[in-house]
Amino acid sequence: MYKAFYNLKRNPFEITPDPSFLFPTKRHNEALAALYYGVRRHKGFVVLTGEVGTGKTLLLRCLLELLKRNNDVEYAYIFNGKLTPVEFLQYVAGDLGLPAVGKNKSELLLQLARYVIARSQKQLTTVLVVDEAHHLSADILEEIRLLTNLETANQKLLQILLVGQPELDDKLDSIELRQLKQRIALRSHLAALDLSETKGYIERRIQLAGSPHATKLFPQETVVAVYRHCGGIPRLINTICENALIAAYSKQAAIVTPEIIDAIAADFRLGVQTRPLEATAAGETLSVQKAAETLLELYAHLHNERSRDEEVKPRLRVRVTEHEPYI
Ligand SMILES: Nc1ncnc2c1ncn2[C@@H]1O[C@H](COP(=O)(O)OP(=O)(O)OP(=O)(O)O)[C@@H](O)[C@H]1O
Ligand SMILES: [Mg+2]
Repeated sequence: MYKAFYNLKRNPFEITPDPSFLFPTKRHNEALAALYYGVRRHKGFVVLTGEVGTGKTLLLRCLLELLKRNNDVEYAYIFNGKLTPVEFLQYVAGDLGLPAVGKNKSELLLQLARYVIARSQKQLTTVLVVDEAHHLSADILEEIRLLTNLETANQKLLQILLVGQPELDDKLDSIELRQLKQRIALRSHLAALDLSETKGYIERRIQLAGSPHATKLFPQETVVAVYRHCGGIPRLINTICENALIAAYSKQAAIVTPEIIDAIAADFRLGVQTRPLEATAAGETLSVQKAAETLLELYAHLHNERSRDEEVKPRLRVRVTEHEPYI
């Protein structure tokens, strides 16, 4: 409804991930390059993580568009991580056009292996793409580990891309999944945009939507207000800017002002810190750091008790490690 008023041909801030709207920040470029390179060079296992709404699914769509240009790539795209291992394998097989109904796990694995090997003998590439991979159960991640074993002496036969929120990093860091973690060939991470990227992002979307007057419509002080409320998260930027355009139009205003942004942010409760649902009895979330501190306290307590009794020596050591640096 505001499009004609602002000389726009299409809505600039749709929240569906549309590759034609990609604003290539350095991180988005690097992550897309890592995904593409991983697939084309048969690196095997590639992981992309990022906060909610930072553009992971968008990058996957961009990647799939790039891959579709090559006739030698076939892929299965899974975005529902909440499956049993058999359902997961059935889904993968079905998406690759293989018969899957009624097959058990070993039949599915065998069929998949034969398919991947046959394709690789013809120099064709097969990719398994899992979006929302932070939902995958340990059982499915174990199946994925087994699939990474499909390899020759010098290359992986099935390319696997796992994409998900930062909880995926935590899962891959767990002791049970250390074998899978060791197989990761490339790893990248998407973060929120900074202020100048936020400005570029808003301008690019408005330009792509057909208006050459992006800086007039969203002047610098308005962009600063958007950034202050959204912290550079693209999905939030879209939501706030879309609603700001509607509000500005209802006032017949030629410019989106910081006041409009503040009002929309208040409506969307953007200043309110999002809390995880799981909480301890005291209503407080137990972070890894806090859990480690609690264990240390407990240990110190036990140790004191025991040394008073002059019993055993301390055995428990708790160490909080940083994540590995991303490639
Ligand atoms: N670099 C970018 N250029 C243009 N639009 C972007 C960019 N990054 C994110 N977006 C937009 O932000 C919105 C959210 O992106 P997307 O759905 O890809 O996020 P996500 O990381 O997959 O989120 P979730 O963790 O919830 O799955 C989409 O509208 C997408 O088009
Ligand atoms: Mg997504």
